Amino acid sequence: MAIVDIDAKIPNNVDLAGDRRLQRALEQWQPRFVRWWEELGPSVFQRNPVYLRTAVDVGREGWAHFGHVEMPDYRWGVFLAEPEPDRRIAFGDHKGLPAWQEVPGEYRSDLRRLLVVQGDTEPASVEQQRHLGLTAPSLYDLRNLFQVNVEEGRHLWAMVYLLHRYFGRDGRDEADAMLERHSGDPDNPRILGAFNEETPDWLSFFMFTYFTDRDGKYQLASLRESAFDPLSRTCDFMLKEEAHHMFVGATGVGRVVARTVELMRLHDTDDVHPHGGINLDVLQKYLNFHYSVSLDLFGAETSTNAANYFAAGLKGRFQEERRNDDHQLKTVTRMVPEMTDAGIGEREVTQLQALNETLRDDYREDCTKGLERWNRTLRDHGVDVELTLPHVGFNRRVGTFRGYHVSPDGRPVDEATWQARATHWLPTDADRAHVRSLMVGVTEPGRMAGWVAPPASGIQGQPVDFDYVKI
Ligand SMILES: [Fe+2]
Ligand SMILES: [Fe+2]
Repeated sequence: MAIVDIDAKIPNNVDLAGDRRLQRALEQWQPRFVRWWEELGPSVFQRNPVYLRTAVDVGREGWAHFGHVEMPDYRWGVFLAEPEPDRRIAFGDHKGLPAWQEVPGEYRSDLRRLLVVQGDTEPASVEQQRHLGLTAPSLYDLRNLFQVNVEEGRHLWAMVYLLHRYFGRDGRDEADAMLERHSGDPDNPRILGAFNEETPDWLSFFMFTYFTDRDGKYQLASLRESAFDPLSRTCDFMLKEEAHHMFVGATGVGRVVARTVELMRLHDTDDVHPHGGINLDVLQKYLNFHYSVSLDLFGAETSTNAANYFAAGLKGRFQEERRNDDHQLKTVTRMVPEMTDAGIGEREVTQLQALNETLRDDYREDCTKGLERWNRTLRDHGVDVELTLPHVGFNRRVGTFRGYHVSPDGRPVDEATWQARATHWLPTDADRAHVRSLMVGVTEPGRMAGWVAPPASGIQGQPVDFDYVKI
């Protein structure tokens, strides 16, 4: 059992005190991180006590402590899940050999790249969401936003620890660069495109936590399979925190749906905009946007990089060990979509080539679960509309669909049709302006903004009208 040192300057269960050089290096990075947090983290309420969850252990029970804390004083720590005794590599060319406790020289730069790309998304999302505190629909939501933010900060710590501990000088430079790139910075942007857009309103935030944090879940889940054991254990623990982020998205969108149907019934109309609500067609357009942008994050349908990472044992599939195949994937094949001027077709490739598409498929299936719940709310209220996931080819910028137009129901359309219909499929400036107009900060305990229903229950057994943020 790894021992938790909770009172250390950097709380950890990796025996930082036993490695003075590493400890000193991370303690030098710490004030830079806090400075970044104060400058580019939440733009308001930094010095208000927030009811936050803090990781203090990694066991199944009692791994987190809840209490009011001012965010810059949050105890960001380094926690790896418990090691699995005699863990073996589950896939790729080294399948069956012992997992690595150190980085093999030949995979050093690939592994570093994987850590940097993953690590970069964590502070990026904090930066994207930094102004949302001004317009939170309730104190409950404000607290959830900050919870997500501090944990994304901790995920950065998780990657920075691995960089410092296992990658020497280069790793330290990469850790510094994490605080130098900024979301939307024209000169030094974040690595992935989707992380350079501001999250402009709370509907976008709920959609982002539902769809884009879920991409994160799938990336972390495939890194959890890694032959590099410290990375595997790191991601395992991050996934625990990540679940709450997707809960915020799923329940957030669900509460918007619930409020919309309530307003529809109350005013006997489909158009709830005059009554301070968000129409179902606008919800669908936001969903279309965030889903399609998130699909792009998985990359092209076939990928040599992904194949190499898999063969090397660096990155597996979602739930690799539960799969019933040879875990090498060099001879088994699958179909992947292929778009040409003739339309949407398919081609057969080895599963090894198609790993991005396989992960995207798993993700898509996971995404349907929330929709089923939201649609149940609609059905229960006799509303004859369903929210749907658009076709995988809709609004894509990456992979085979790039450069083509596909309607949400999966029909190839020409440029003129796209131009004429896009306002029905994606949020327009007017839609965004309406949503923005509803965004007013509500800071009275228990009160909700008019466009969203209250949550079913509070956090950690507290009532909905609890003082989640002391203002
Ligand atoms: Fe994260
Ligand atoms: Fe997250």
